[in-house]
Amino acid sequence: MARLANKIALITGAGSGIGQSSALLFAKEGATVVVNDLDAVKAEETVRLIEQSGGEAIFIGADVTNPEQVAEMVEAIKARYNRIDILFNNAGISGVGVLHEIEPEAWDRVINVNIRGVFLPSKYVLPLMMEQRSGSIINMSSCIAEIGLAKRASYAATKGAVLALTKSMQVDYAPYNIRVNALLPGTILTPFVENYLRTSYDDPEIAIASLKTRQLSGDLGRPDDVAQAALFLASDEAKFMMGSPLYIDGGVTFGKNA
Ligand SMILES: NC(=O)c1ccc[n+]([C@@H]2O[C@H](COP(=O)([O-])OP(=O)(O)OC[C@H]3O[C@@H](n4cnc5c(N)ncnc54)[C@H](O)[C@@H]3O)[C@@H](O)[C@H]2O)c1
Repeated sequence: MARLANKIALITGAGSGIGQSSALLFAKEGATVVVNDLDAVKAEETVRLIEQSGGEAIFIGADVTNPEQVAEMVEAIKARYNRIDILFNNAGISGVGVLHEIEPEAWDRVINVNIRGVFLPSKYVLPLMMEQRSGSIINMSSCIAEIGLAKRASYAATKGAVLALTKSMQVDYAPYNIRVNALLPGTILTPFVENYLRTSYDDPEIAIASLKTRQLSGDLGRPDDVAQAALFLASDEAKFMMGSPLYIDGGVTFGKNA
């Protein structure tokens, strides 16, 4: 029996990286996946990959920071499927820089996408889940919510906020049989990280080698490592997971490498 059989899953930012990997895995496990992204071309590619392997998916574009667009997206899903079992709030952007050098506009952009982008899809999906009296919401935090990391002030602030939000949401919606958990990945090799390495280091290969030494695993994570954790939280097997941070970080948060 597929682990997500008959479930409708909405994944934001599913055109790339962890979101795309999760969309493919969720579909493989029987879910019908609503692929959301700002980038229609990348999202359509995710849908194509899912359909190619025999799964079911549709693309619905929306900017997760825009209330009208998010509300319309949820209405469209309601009209088509009349339920949402899984909401994976994955879309996010990076923010690099030490605090005194961050421009207010850049700060606001990171806060907006990474926090408002969790608030809005949750706000519009929750009434449907409350009506169903079931649902699993997975919020994308990061292990940076727990550890200090150089030049990531705005990004760290957002991921800490998402973790706090997850716990409060869980308390409020537990009576409706809705689970809300957070993923805390370490460094996962996705376009997001590749772009950061390209723009922040003269030699990205040296940067990757140095990042690897920070991991107890000796290597960086891959999108599928996080997708597997998301699959667990999405599935009924995680029925006793509530308000929990789930680390997928190669030991960075709790381990000390030498
Ligand atoms: N890669 C890592 O090392 C890492 C570690 C911890 C947490 N994360 C988090 O995981 C999530 C996914 O990261 P990734 O590495 O796969 O990134 P990615 O850049 O590969 O994918 C993110 C996707 O989100 C989409 N997106 C951005 N803004 C959006 C918006 N306003 N509305 C809708 N879609 C939008 C982008 O178009 C992109 O397709 C992010 O929240 C990120 O902060 C990543």
